[in-house]
Amino acid sequence: MWRRTIPACCPVLIVALLAPLAAYGEERPSPDWSDVSAIFEERCVMCHSVDAGASRGLRLDDYDAALAGSDRGPVLLSGDAARSELMRRLLGESTPRMPFLSRALPDDQIAVIEAWIIAGMPDERGSR
Ligand code: HEC
Repeated sequence: MWRRTIPACCPVLIVALLAPLAAYGEERPSPDWSDVSAIFEERCVMCHSVDAGASRGLRLDDYDAALAGSDRGPVLLSGDAARSELMRRLLGESTPRMPFLSRALPDDQIAVIEAWIIAGMPDERGSR
């Protein structure tokens, strides 16, 4: 008896469970500086900050400094993740790959940084 009721209710249950998830995905705001700086703090600032002497003059411990870039120029091109040097270093398209002499960032962290660049690098208040 119950075997017949399960197939009938299952699709309804699945839709009911997945709908809020889908909505969450759509409405989730794009990452801002607070999301990205958490990753930089963990994996980058030991070399890219004032205290560290800032490898290549690039500081990732401060929003304005990160946007200013390295002594070669900007490493973040608003809206253009593919051509941003920082992104290319994370992916190993430009070498040496970053983080220098360490394991690569996990894909989900690279995705957060990519989405932030595409969104125009909003600061911690979400403005550009
Ligand atoms: C162990 C030290 C170290 C760590 C950790 C590190 N870097 Fe670097 N980074 C360097 C050095 C050294 C260079 C200069 C290498 C070169 O291009 O000659 C560099 C260069 C770069 C450049 C290129 C700047 C330019 O204009 O050519 C980018 C972008 C960069 N790092 C981003 C990052 C990011 C993002 C992280 C964290 C995910 C990170 N780095 C972690 C040491 C480090």
